Amino acid sequence: MSEKTNRQWRLSSRPVGMVSEANFDFVEEPIPEIGEGEYLVRNLYLSFDPAMRGWMEDRASYIPPVGIGEVMRAGTVGEVTESRHPDFAVGDRVQGLFGWQEYAVGGRGLAQGTKVPEGMPITWPLGVCGITGLTAYFGLLDLGRPEPGETVLVSGAAGATGSVVAQIAKLKGCRVVGIAGGPAKCALLTDDFGLDAAIDYKAEDVQARIAETCPDGVNIYFDNVGGPILDAALANLAQRARVVLCGGISGYNEKEPPPGPRNLMNLVIQRGRMEGFIVIDYMARFPEATAELAEWVTSGSIRHLEDVQEGIENAVQTFLRLFRGQNTGKQLLKL
Ligand SMILES: NC(=O)c1ccc[n+]([C@@H]2O[C@H](COP(=O)([O-])OP(=O)(O)OC[C@H]3O[C@@H](n4cnc5c(N)ncnc54)[C@H](OP(=O)(O)O)[C@@H]3O)[C@@H](O)[C@H]2O)c1
Repeated sequence: MSEKTNRQWRLSSRPVGMVSEANFDFVEEPIPEIGEGEYLVRNLYLSFDPAMRGWMEDRASYIPPVGIGEVMRAGTVGEVTESRHPDFAVGDRVQGLFGWQEYAVGGRGLAQGTKVPEGMPITWPLGVCGITGLTAYFGLLDLGRPEPGETVLVSGAAGATGSVVAQIAKLKGCRVVGIAGGPAKCALLTDDFGLDAAIDYKAEDVQARIAETCPDGVNIYFDNVGGPILDAALANLAQRARVVLCGGISGYNEKEPPPGPRNLMNLVIQRGRMEGFIVIDYMARFPEATAELAEWVTSGSIRHLEDVQEGIENAVQTFLRLFRGQNTGKQLLKL
């Protein structure tokens, strides 16, 4: 890492179809000066989240789009190296939306930042004890409302969110079936995470395999991917099923939105409920959930996998790993 400069990735154009390096400029700038009420952060790890693809689009959403010419927004963790902020001291470990860069100004705009809880491993606030774990927690427990003995189906099950959903569902006494791409991820789900069955959507007939592995129907479907997998799940609902719409990564890089599901009528027939959510709506309850997630991880009840790439110059390639299915567990980049 350069001593005097700040290497950054700035958004240079809005992607049409699959995002690529051509949508960014890799630039080197002086380390920024901080003003009164601000602090300087040296980023240690960047988080990669499929939602960041949506932030690159010029459209109204739950958060403003990243502007052309701005540093690519991302959650990060780092260390305070200078401070003119009353609540942050040099050496503090912080988390926040500090972006794809080596140094960032905290206490400004969306990059207000918060301290990493005392004693918590530095990467956890980006994964299992951050947005990822919280998404799994509130999506499954608040929207899905699992009961012991119910069957929970999870897509993107070897990913950051899905792997936590699947394990919390097991903790709640459910039968859990995971959907993931490839035999290695499927073996991980059954052999390491203790799921009851796994479906390789790249090699198997998903609808038929859901019917086979969930013979009494699906009580909760936690959807991370959308598209044909969502449709296959809808075809296999049990009565009073809950479909939790968390994300739809299969469509994030499509030029046109994929066609809607064809099996929606099954919600009527099975008296089901389908509901979307955005995790930031639960912010007031983050402390209680973070504490419970941390306790589950510390006690070994939940296994937390991280996929750590290295080097700021590899930020775009690391982002692409999400859409290529190359990550297992939480995708991070170490600086
Ligand atoms: N609602 C919320 O507040 C909220 C918050 C956080 C995340 N999310 C959503 O949760 C989902 C998972 O996010 P994450 O951060 O945990 O990412 P992740 O699951 O760790 O990584 C993405 C995974 O998606 C799978 N994938 C990629 N393209 C696919 C396709 N065409 N069809 C099926 N699967 C595909 C890949 O796994 P395979 O190898 O198995 O294909 C890849 O590993 C995303 O949809 C994200 O937008 C929602």
